[in-house]
Amino acid sequence: MPAIADLGATKRTSPIWSPDDVTVIFVLGGPGAGKGTQCSKLVADYGFKHLSAGDLLREEQDRPGSEFGEMIKTYIKEGTIVPMEVTVQLLENAMKLAMEKEKKTMFLIDGFPRKLDQAHAFERSVVPSKFTLFFDCPEDVMEERLINRGKTSGRADDNPESIRKRFRTFVETSMPVVHEFESQGKVVKVEATKGPDDVYDEVKAQLKERGVEPITLKFVQT
Ligand code: C5P
Ligand code: MG
Repeated sequence: MPAIADLGATKRTSPIWSPDDVTVIFVLGGPGAGKGTQCSKLVADYGFKHLSAGDLLREEQDRPGSEFGEMIKTYIKEGTIVPMEVTVQLLENAMKLAMEKEKKTMFLIDGFPRKLDQAHAFERSVVPSKFTLFFDCPEDVMEERLINRGKTSGRADDNPESIRKRFRTFVETSMPVVHEFESQGKVVKVEATKGPDDVYDEVKAQLKERGVEPITLKFVQT
């Protein structure tokens, strides 16, 4: 079964799901800001389904027979943004699958939207987001993390040349998305320079303020 049978999703003019039934939190931040790390922690405590746009693109790139494989590879290497029709369709398919197979209704969509057209298309044709969790981190910290990750990640874009290009794309193309959501009061900003556990403490506190609570039942002493 191909991961993408057609690219119809973004042609719709109304969302297929209502935010009353399906919760989407976008997770943004520069490359190496710690999005994936924090998402893994959130999955364990809150029961979210974590979907990384980058992971879905890499999966499609490696899928034998994919008509988009070569195109995706080029964009990733160059650190530029894959045409949104492909990414939105991959996300919609993955969400559908998680709803059917795992009965999930709460999603963390990591590394998306990286460009305004992706944001608009997703909210118009899939489902409006609840808010965006934005991990704010200085470039020198992110660069060091990425270089370290590159020693074991096997990723074609964790090298100094691609990293530079990804930083540039982030500032020029992805930050406008954060600013647009900010103007709608839909950004939850977390300072992401410290270690994973400290950052996560702040994430939990911020989510609580937004009414998002962990699912793990804790023993409460009375
Ligand atoms: O999020 P991650 O670092 O895994 O993304 C890797 C690459 O995938 C990006 O640099 C970009 O080329 C592509 N991508 C994209 N659109 C997204 C997410 C990732 O084009 N929303
Ligand atoms: Mg990631």
